[in-house]
Amino acid sequence: MSEMNVQNPFIVGKYLSDSYFCDRENETEFLRKQIVNGRNVALISPRRIGKSGLIQHFFHQQDIQENYYLFFVDIYATTSLGEFVYTLGKEIFEQLKPQPTAWKEKFFQIISSFRIGCKLDPYTGVPTLDIGLGDIQTPTTSLDEIFTYINEADKPCVIAIDEFQQIGEYAEKNVEALLRTKIQQCNKVQFIFSGSKRHIMSNMFNSPSKPFYQSAISMGLEPLPMDVYSDFAIRLFEERSRKLEREVVETIWQRYDGYTWFVQMMMNELFALTPDGGTCLPPMIPIARKNVIMSQEGSYKDLLSNLPPKQKMVLQAIAKEGIAQNITSGKFIKKYNLNSASTVQSAVKLLLNNDLVTKTDTGYRVYDFFLSDWLATIY
Ligand SMILES: Nc1ncnc2c1ncn2[C@@H]1O[C@H](COP(=O)(O)OP(=O)(O)OP(=O)(O)O)[C@@H](O)[C@H]1O
Ligand SMILES: [Mg+2]
Repeated sequence: MSEMNVQNPFIVGKYLSDSYFCDRENETEFLRKQIVNGRNVALISPRRIGKSGLIQHFFHQQDIQENYYLFFVDIYATTSLGEFVYTLGKEIFEQLKPQPTAWKEKFFQIISSFRIGCKLDPYTGVPTLDIGLGDIQTPTTSLDEIFTYINEADKPCVIAIDEFQQIGEYAEKNVEALLRTKIQQCNKVQFIFSGSKRHIMSNMFNSPSKPFYQSAISMGLEPLPMDVYSDFAIRLFEERSRKLEREVVETIWQRYDGYTWFVQMMMNELFALTPDGGTCLPPMIPIARKNVIMSQEGSYKDLLSNLPPKQKMVLQAIAKEGIAQNITSGKFIKKYNLNSASTVQSAVKLLLNNDLVTKTDTGYRVYDFFLSDWLATIY
């Protein structure tokens, strides 16, 4: 999508450019300072606040683009070292492909375990990488080769590993130590490790017994301040000859605690509902809310159909409460016909683990605000 034909300026799920990205100036500066001074960063914040967006934004800074090779891998869906190596190797190849450097030419020479995937485009003669997971026979060898290759780069590199906590779930048990050793030996690359499981991430980087102890500067990410986000939203409306009442965007920000993804989803829909030349007013909020929730309904139904009945009941009970306190009390159990305190306890543990429920200072809530609404009012 080129910038010219962006109809709706509230972009969700990808990074387009500076113009559609709100603030994060201090955070970008902080990242720049760490990277330029040769430090790794551990970026830790709850889901949907904007970690991946911030990294993309940082990677779009002109000086960073000019001075570094930039690689971004999301390892959320990976379950083994083999998949990790596959994902990283592919990203490096794809990023370098359009860049005319001598370093690029050495890719298959040094990463010989990927050579099997080297195909020449029959029309252009340009090498492409056509590799399958099964082609990674010995992941540790491939990992060695990748790091050897990076060490020969003609510019420093930044590798961002998104959802880094996932390496703790790999089938192999020594991945943390293995990676740490590789990273220490490689002086050409700085890392940004980002993750949303605060507990696991903090443990990885801040506990003395762990391989990554003190190997990165920790950085948290807070929601965008309400006034900053409101100014941003009002500007985006104005640039497209529409008006947005401040009260609307402030209501949205407050309802979703400033969690960027939910706020952006709502603003995207509110923008769509506002006619050209028109004004976005408070009565449009419930309509937008309903539309957004309905647009997610398919995935919510899928999610529920895969959830064991006990977890489903507890999830809905929490949704109906909004913020649920004393969930193992007789009162709560009776009100929602739940089996027993121990059933609730074990269900909540699993729901927390799977990011469906989160624990706040005031109690438990369903993590996804839209799912919560849907469970409480429509399902
Ligand atoms: N500063 C910003 N301005 C505008 N939109 C943003 C900003 N930061 C993030 N977004 C948008 O908000 C949504 C959520 O952000 P993002 O995916 O970066 O969050 P995350 O913390 O990585 O979430 P997750 O933990 O689920 O991966 C995305 O659709 C992104 O486009
Ligand atoms: Mg993310």
